[in-house]
Amino acid sequence: MCGIIGVVGSTSTLDILLEGLARLEYRGYDSAGVALVRQGETWRARTANGTESVQALVRACAQAPTGVTTGIGHTRWATHGAPEVMNAHPHLDCSGRIAIIHNGIIENHLALKEDLLARGHTFTSVTDSEVLAHQIEELRAAGNDLINAVRLSLASVRGAFSLAVVDALEPNTIVAARRVSPLIVATTPGATYLASDIPAIFDRATSFYGVDDDQVVQLTPDGFHAVDLEGTSVQLTPLTVNFDLETAQKDGHDDFMAKEIAEQPQALRATLMDRRRGDGSFTFDEMHVSDEELKEVRRVVLVAAGTSYHAALVAKYAIEKWARLSVDVEISSEYRYRDPVIEIGTLVIGVSQSGETIDTIQACREAKLRGARVIGICNIVDASLARESDAVLYTRAGLEVSVASTKAFVAQVAVLELLALHLAQLRGTMDSAVIDDRFTELTEVADHVATVLSRSERVSLVANELRDTRDFFYLGRNVGFPTALEGALKLKELTYLHAEGYAAGELKHGPLALIEPGVVVVAVVTDPNLHEKILSNLAEVKARGASVVAIAADGDEIIDAIADYVLRVPATNPLMAPIVDIVPLQQFAYAMARGLGRNVDRPRNLAKTVTVE
Ligand code: AGP
Repeated sequence: MCGIIGVVGSTSTLDILLEGLARLEYRGYDSAGVALVRQGETWRARTANGTESVQALVRACAQAPTGVTTGIGHTRWATHGAPEVMNAHPHLDCSGRIAIIHNGIIENHLALKEDLLARGHTFTSVTDSEVLAHQIEELRAAGNDLINAVRLSLASVRGAFSLAVVDALEPNTIVAARRVSPLIVATTPGATYLASDIPAIFDRATSFYGVDDDQVVQLTPDGFHAVDLEGTSVQLTPLTVNFDLETAQKDGHDDFMAKEIAEQPQALRATLMDRRRGDGSFTFDEMHVSDEELKEVRRVVLVAAGTSYHAALVAKYAIEKWARLSVDVEISSEYRYRDPVIEIGTLVIGVSQSGETIDTIQACREAKLRGARVIGICNIVDASLARESDAVLYTRAGLEVSVASTKAFVAQVAVLELLALHLAQLRGTMDSAVIDDRFTELTEVADHVATVLSRSERVSLVANELRDTRDFFYLGRNVGFPTALEGALKLKELTYLHAEGYAAGELKHGPLALIEPGVVVVAVVTDPNLHEKILSNLAEVKARGASVVAIAADGDEIIDAIADYVLRVPATNPLMAPIVDIVPLQQFAYAMARGLGRNVDRPRNLAKTVTVE
């Protein structure tokens, strides 16, 4: 999605803006721009060069005025209006004095634009965002200072926004506001910053604050002042920032994805660390849902998108098996518009790496409105989902920069299975000795992942042999099915090749018609309880000419007679196997994408965080 950044009070404002925009690139973008203001003068540069826009912007800024201490910057992921310079942010008002940047969607922009055109305003873009510049222009002309002009302009706006506004007549001020789309404010002596998320400015400031919905913030070199839409002063939420610069570096890897695949053992260890007290009970960050309330839970609904949805699918099997609770897993964008049934005793769990996926946040809001208790599973401390949930469980995978989620997935499965054990303990559905065994197995999974990582050479060889394949099926049974879905998603989003994840038992119900020579079937066959079943599925596809890649447990000798390629993993508790089995599938997708010359950290058309619908 779009990224925004602003700086007021620094003598390095332009450098900070450009560096911050480069750090926001992973949010996905197709154009970029900055605006600098000093007394009476607004200077703007914009570019629309796809994923090279920020580099082009750096060149364009060689003409920028020097010594400017106030500015805003934007990377745009087109929603309304083609990715062309005319639609790139910042947008200006008619006077050219006021500049705005915006992340989100103004749903009633057409009506607002019609009124503004009728009052003589001239538009230079086809974006929804530009209406804000002209609304603010009118309110400034009516005598309002900048913060009140912005605040009053938002009263008529429907939709989502995180925005920042500058005016050459108030050169030491930026006004920012937020509804739904994320916004952070940060301070350091003598300068104040804003950004759509922390990585853009995390090494610039010393204190960080979250802006909540319908809050408007005036930033000056000495700090900030926040109000609600009625103009009443409000406090911003202090945030905990545990990033450091090298976290965002690549640690010697070619790209963030390789770094993050390699970090999975430590992501798992960090996520599972300090989770049990001496008496064997479990502890969770900010779990404001009491054990008594959890004991009253009668149904669990998991809502998520993409990779997080696949982690939630794995959790369903563990919660049902261990806690004997009925679990539904819902795609967020479907659940939120379905007028869902929420009975007393329903626990909704929103799973989101970024904690900013708008569909998952809105799905949890819908559930909360209907009386559900909501737990957020996030990887970013104090993300919107965390702040809006009744309780939060943090994955501690560390900053995940690559658009394709890897370490967050394994950490999500681990923390959800930890929650499943907690629920089983509270409900008395498992003996404490069995819980101890499962917990020990879960903490050992990180070592199995490390073992698999040491076998990456074999995966690269298989990917090289299959580099000309254009059609893939991923198959699995039980938790191997969500593993297959996630493996297929990794291949799709990284290589742009077609891949489908399927429950192996479904083959006869249609997909078998697609199997022919040249198709590659990737199968997860590590579950000993279903081994025979899935081998018979593989015999069916082999008989029709498919090549087979099997993810199989060490010691499984039967598979060698059927699969063309075998990628081996240490045997693991079947319900925990997705954490280990997904690793060769991540590596396979990565190797195939590198072989095709793809940008593995920033695949085309995709964004790391989907903050618009
Ligand atoms: C996964 O590789 C993709 N980046 C995407 O499916 C992602 O998982 C999805 O957008 C959900 O993001 P979230 O976990 O931040 O909510």
